[in-house]
Amino acid sequence: MTKFSISSTLRMPSGYDIPILGYGVYQTPAAIAAEVVSHALKVGYRHVDSAVAYRNEAPSAEGLKKSGVARDQLFFTTKIPPRQMNYDNAKKHIENSLNETGFDYIDLYLLHSPYGGREGRIGAWKALVEGVEAGKIRSIGVSNFGVHHLEELETYIQTTDEKEGKGKGGILSVNQIELHPWLARKDIVDWCTKRGVILEAYSPIVRATKGEDPLLLSLAKKHNKTTSQILLRWSLQKGFVPLPKSVTPSRMEENAQIFDFELSNEDMKTLDLGDDQPLFPKHFYNRK
Ligand SMILES: NC(=O)c1ccc[n+]([C@@H]2O[C@H](COP(=O)([O-])OP(=O)(O)OC[C@H]3O[C@@H](n4cnc5c(N)ncnc54)[C@H](OP(=O)(O)O)[C@@H]3O)[C@@H](O)[C@H]2O)c1
Repeated sequence: MTKFSISSTLRMPSGYDIPILGYGVYQTPAAIAAEVVSHALKVGYRHVDSAVAYRNEAPSAEGLKKSGVARDQLFFTTKIPPRQMNYDNAKKHIENSLNETGFDYIDLYLLHSPYGGREGRIGAWKALVEGVEAGKIRSIGVSNFGVHHLEELETYIQTTDEKEGKGKGGILSVNQIELHPWLARKDIVDWCTKRGVILEAYSPIVRATKGEDPLLLSLAKKHNKTTSQILLRWSLQKGFVPLPKSVTPSRMEENAQIFDFELSNEDMKTLDLGDDQPLFPKHFYNRK
């Protein structure tokens, strides 16, 4: 069996490790975020995926801190909001996230989406790079970036490194995108995999819309697991970092019980559907 456990990590290009299972808090009301994150920690999650736009950075961090788990065992992600994608705003958001969370550093800071045109995206990226240089952020990345956005960023990084010295352009560690068998994004996955950029899978259980899918049901029956567990295991075995969201304690536990079985090569192949059907707007990826 592939040797994963809930404490397994992947090494990012930054040199830091990322826990292979994340806990998403999109649409989790601030009023309950501390409590659900606290429960997630009890169940074994160590990695929380938040964003400025989710308006729950502070209570999510509170849930992490009150777990009593050492800071270096915790992993907290946040994101520059899509519609505020420029250098000045990004600088302010980095300071604000540190104030909101009370953390000395943010483990992973992402650009939430490729908005703002080239100037806005590259400006916000520069602010993240400066955040790393100042020790305020450990690793940086992007979200909802299509291949042309990734190439734009790679060109910026390479030319800056050439002009100013290696590392000055920053290190791209992560691209967080919607990823599941119904949206396999082969082009983006290949681009990132070739460069060692970690793929985080959002909406990994397709927002619970595929519970009646016959293919998933047959795999669930075969492995004595739920359809959500099959999807999450698929994601892990693809080498992705899935970020399931649930505010329901029993589901949080269910989604973490994915380390005691393995999908065969044949099972994995049956989930190669080759038919991209995004839940989220295609315009993220097509933006100029
Ligand atoms: N970067 C981006 O633009 C972006 C976009 C979307 C999501 N994300 C990240 O990815 C995370 C997850 O994505 P998501 O929230 O869109 O989708 P998801 O995790 O695929 O699905 C969440 C939904 O499924 C339900 N659910 C969870 N576990 C279940 C289970 N075992 N059985 C049945 N239903 C279950 C949840 O309900 P309950 O909560 O009521 O239990 C919730 O309605 C987000 O929280 C966020 O961190 C990022």
